[in-house]
Amino acid sequence: MSLDLVHRPRRNRKSPVIRAFTRETVIGPEHFISPLFIHDAPGDVAIASMPGCKRMGASSLYAEVEASLAVGVRAFALFPAIPEAQKTRGAEEAWNPKGLIPRTLTELKRRFPDAMLVTDVALDPYNSDGHDGLVSDDGRILNDPTVKALCAQALSQARAGADIIAPSDMMDGRVGALRAALDDDGFTDVSILAYTAKYASAFYGPFRDALDSAPKAGDKKTYQMDPANVREALRELVLDEAEGADIVMVKPAGAYLDVIAALRSATTLPVAAYQVSGEYAMLHAAAQNGWLDLRKTALESLLGIRRAGADVIFTYFARQAALWLRDHPL
Ligand code: PBG
Repeated sequence: MSLDLVHRPRRNRKSPVIRAFTRETVIGPEHFISPLFIHDAPGDVAIASMPGCKRMGASSLYAEVEASLAVGVRAFALFPAIPEAQKTRGAEEAWNPKGLIPRTLTELKRRFPDAMLVTDVALDPYNSDGHDGLVSDDGRILNDPTVKALCAQALSQARAGADIIAPSDMMDGRVGALRAALDDDGFTDVSILAYTAKYASAFYGPFRDALDSAPKAGDKKTYQMDPANVREALRELVLDEAEGADIVMVKPAGAYLDVIAALRSATTLPVAAYQVSGEYAMLHAAAQNGWLDLRKTALESLLGIRRAGADVIFTYFARQAALWLRDHPL
């Protein structure tokens, strides 16, 4: 017997060809930014909670960038691990023109002129307190002095060849100050990808292990956002747009898809999302136990982030996902 149905949505799923006609979201290597951990040492250090990721010395970094470019991943975000001895309360290493990040930018640009290089603007790798901002004697995070330091940091990155600077610090007013500092120095073409809605998330745990950058005291809740809030993300969006952000970002991604969607519908700017270290670690941990299929769940998570409205995704799966998509198109 057959039901008397006018609508049978399954007709639009009946074959791979029709499913391809009706697919609303695509993902590919052009949507990925690959975050890379670097250090000033010859070898590599594995990161236990992030299988496949490591703190890389120069030669592995070049090999990683070359292999990524070969599968179509063309953007890279650099995160430095700085020896404890170079960390200070003023985080001065953050704008040392001979520091690890400027040296690495210059060399990567020389070897791979087409690679798009994104740098993190925040003091935590360089700050002996482990915070993204400067810390007062009584433990407060100082907004305006931090913004001044971030401008010095961003200029050192722009001078060394950064294409996009990405403030992840969540200080007030930093996007406008960075734009003015870059423009004054002639870097009108350097883009600002703002971490607009960066939440005080426990999903950053593996990243802080990777870089030894956890705060020494306190937490980041006076500057990173409360995971309960979405209207506040729209407030940050209005400010970052007005201050001149070129791309606005939500971070983390997987637990914040509604925030991605909210930004997508509230702005004409490109929206980025950061699938953070804990999201990557969760999928790997389950896969190592044989509980989830890593390839399928990783690609599904990336598709979901795109479907929510992200144009571009920071993901530790970038090179691997590009390979998977090449060998097994969705
Ligand atoms: C630091 C920074 C963090 C991440 C990117 N930049 C950590 C933090 O804010 O504590 C997290 C990335 C990740 O977990 O993958 N400014």
